[in-house]
Amino acid sequence: MRVHGERSETVNVLLLNGPNLNLLGEREPEIYGKTTLVELEQMLAKKARELGVELRAFQSNHEGALVDELHQSRRWAQGVIFNPGAFTHYSYALRDAIVATRLRVVEVHLSDITKREPWRRVSVLEEVCAHRVLGKGTAGYLEALQWLVDTRAAER
Ligand code: DQA
Repeated sequence: MRVHGERSETVNVLLLNGPNLNLLGEREPEIYGKTTLVELEQMLAKKARELGVELRAFQSNHEGALVDELHQSRRWAQGVIFNPGAFTHYSYALRDAIVATRLRVVEVHLSDITKREPWRRVSVLEEVCAHRVLGKGTAGYLEALQWLVDTRAAER
């Protein structure tokens, strides 16, 4: 029985990847690395099992599908690891979805967007995300997962 105020043990985390990340491994490997999306998802799933986290993974090239996934996960997930790809730089719909769902989102980028082209340095999502990890390649996703688990007590 769950007593009022008691936390359930499992942490549910959504791993969300945006446009063009389905091509990881073959897409500009000198910037984004050689790991494929399947390998990345498997890596995260393994770490999730070790941490007792339930992980659900979703990738889409479509803004609305990402909005829908955030909506659908709003009561299930205690945290989201989100690489929004190029939507990072201009998607107010995704920004609104993060605010609307009140999900704790970690913004993750494989590359360090603060050191790239001027248009990439802007993130319209940064302000509404709980944390961000930049430029650490696939290890950044693992760091984000660990951060979500470690800071679970600060859940909003
Ligand atoms: C990216 C950076 C974005 O600017 C780019 O559009 C991507 C990948 C990254 O992981 O470094 O698709 O989010």
